[in-house]
Amino acid sequence: MRKKIIAANWKMNKDINETSEFVYAFRDEMKSYDGTAEVIICPPFIALDAAAELLRESPFILGAQNLHYENDGAFTGEVSARMLKSVGVSYVIVGHSERRQFFGDTDEVVAKKVKKALSSDLNVILCVGESLAERDGGVTEKVLERQIKAALEGLTPKDLPSLVVAYEPIWAIGTGRNATPQQAEDAHAFIRRTVAGMFGKEVADSLTIQYGGSVKPENAAELLSQPDVDGALVGGASLKADSFAKIVKSSSR
Ligand code: 13P
Repeated sequence: MRKKIIAANWKMNKDINETSEFVYAFRDEMKSYDGTAEVIICPPFIALDAAAELLRESPFILGAQNLHYENDGAFTGEVSARMLKSVGVSYVIVGHSERRQFFGDTDEVVAKKVKKALSSDLNVILCVGESLAERDGGVTEKVLERQIKAALEGLTPKDLPSLVVAYEPIWAIGTGRNATPQQAEDAHAFIRRTVAGMFGKEVADSLTIQYGGSVKPENAAELLSQPDVDGALVGGASLKADSFAKIVKSSSR
């Protein structure tokens, strides 16, 4: 059985007060939840410490949205794996398309971040996904294969249990236009085959692959019912406690 994981990526949203408002409301919404999905909340750096405190007595897990691959040093504005660990972070998102697009996170940088996070005992949510031009050009699988191979090269099968892959087609992020369940399933199955080719079928079969891109309470259940869709990485709809709770709950149906 693969782990189901629903994660909230708040991106550059919510200060400390808004974070605590969310956590109180979300815990309330989830009071009667008896499903098995793991829930991860990834606030901005400045709210991690407060969120860690608020989540301490809850089953929900704390994640960060980025890290630097060096341990420390003259890297103004950056945050290291060790620092994330020290505030109680368990997961870190790496390779989000917004980082790749706006902040120079190339395949090479993504690979370094993945390795640093894993060697620091952080779990990784590795994001991959094609642009609209790439999908229209028929190179979706080529792009996914390149991103997966670049990010995971040099890892061993024993690293894989600490890794989650999130398939996030760029054209579906923040657009309101989600991938169809079949498009998501096809991409997830391809990612799983690619990982099987690198690390073996057993490892690939237990890899959690999340879908991300305009996941909402209205479409979550159908997307999550696909055999290779093991969770969701949610942006906009994770900013409100009630809609995020609905998405988590629909993963158990
Ligand atoms: P939206 O859910 O807002 O489309 O964002 C998806 C995403 O980028 C999550 O990482």
